Amino acid sequence: MKNICVVGTGYVGLVTGACFANLGNRVACLDIDDAKIKRLRAGELPIYEPGLDTLVERNTRAGRLRFTTDYAEAVAGADFIFIAVNTPTIAGGAGADMSYVEAAARSIATHLRNDAVIINKSTMPVGSGDLVSTIVHEHLTIPTLNVAVVSNPEFLSEGFAVRDFQHPDRVVLGSVDRAAAQRVAELYLPLRAPIVITDLYTAEMIKYASNAFLATKISFINEIARICDLLGADVKEVAAGMGYDQRIGNKMLNAGLGYGGSCFPKDVKALAHMADEAGLHPQLLDAVMKINQDQRRVAIEKLAMELGGPDSLRDKTIAVLGLAFKDNTDDMREAPAIDIINWLIEAGAEVRAYDPVAVETAQKLYPDWQVTYCENEYDTARGCDGVILVTEWKQFHDLDLERLHDVMRGDEKGPVFIDGRNFFDPAQVEQMGFRYHGIGRGKARRKSVQHRTAPAEQPSTVPGER
Ligand code: UDX
Repeated sequence: MKNICVVGTGYVGLVTGACFANLGNRVACLDIDDAKIKRLRAGELPIYEPGLDTLVERNTRAGRLRFTTDYAEAVAGADFIFIAVNTPTIAGGAGADMSYVEAAARSIATHLRNDAVIINKSTMPVGSGDLVSTIVHEHLTIPTLNVAVVSNPEFLSEGFAVRDFQHPDRVVLGSVDRAAAQRVAELYLPLRAPIVITDLYTAEMIKYASNAFLATKISFINEIARICDLLGADVKEVAAGMGYDQRIGNKMLNAGLGYGGSCFPKDVKALAHMADEAGLHPQLLDAVMKINQDQRRVAIEKLAMELGGPDSLRDKTIAVLGLAFKDNTDDMREAPAIDIINWLIEAGAEVRAYDPVAVETAQKLYPDWQVTYCENEYDTARGCDGVILVTEWKQFHDLDLERLHDVMRGDEKGPVFIDGRNFFDPAQVEQMGFRYHGIGRGKARRKSVQHRTAPAEQPSTVPGER
């Protein structure tokens, strides 16, 4: 059993703390936000993350997990101190705001009374390990302490964070002090995952490169989707056909409305910024970001086109299904729904919206007079001219299309269904009376060319020649 302190109780900090406690360690989760710690002590989680509540409850009850705002208490006796605070994008800029990390490093150093390893868990610009080490050594109250800094980037996907922690594809550790990295590696041994030990800069870069690569896959398939729309291919089948190639893999190839969330947008931007500052123009990363931003517009363009042109959204009522940046989370950071709702409101449309868990988050962005929040999908679509499926909540797979169609308004051509996540079979939705648009489902729009096999006695007959 090791003594661990985790600074920061956001997604990363809470999951890290609860999961290490569940592995049998004694963990103190620290946050400077008094209200948050009070809620956690009362057993209330500040975030929605499947499985986390059970872990927190079980380990708090077993005395392995505690919550505090007191650095002296949390750091005392800790062998490992994880920094898992926010590194948001600097307001109006592209670089990471390191002020929370710097403050945490200073507080840890002044309260530390024993040798310890400090582990950077938050995503930090390449070179931050050195920065944290410098700050810590400058502020140590006991200068003779042996303190090493290790970078240990997180690869937790929201909604699956507990599973991702417990079954990681790999654990990355970077340090100038290899022995310290080995000690951190021991914490992860029960997970039986491959462990990569490298230098600080490389570990930090592995995190950025991984996220940028995944974001690139998404923008790549979204660009292919746009080409599919024009050429008459179906991107869903294209992605499936590509994914069987093990060099490509079948993950992160769902064309849709682009990536959102707290990581991809921020990390791709930060990596491009670091490259820029170092004197390199990051052409691919810039394209990835541009494609992602444009992709959100696709839903609105398709909707407006079907409803009669660019100005046609005025006074129309549109249902937005899904607000979170993806399923299984109430997080709306950089969510495609935000741009989509903004554009709908700007265009003069009335917006009705539903999300299984993110309505409370959305209400902080759009008060009730701007967006009408509804109880379920059918209530949302009531009286609407069009519906946009924005978030990939699994429950939307089970939509009763007939019921949805019945409650919608639509003109003589029927209501419009924009399937921003390619959940449905175009023909099936059209059969229900909708005007359907997916993302890159060119097949649905393909002109019905009749491929006829010419009879043997008339070999020269070509379809369309008669
Ligand atoms: C991501 C990484 O997966 C994780 O390893 C890292 O630590 C943090 O960033 P997360 O932001 O939680 O995790 O979500 P993820 O499931 O990766 O999805 C990100 C965004 O991409 C979502 O908006 C999702 O809708 C979108 N996406 C994902 C697609 O558009 N297509 C896909 O094929 C996959």
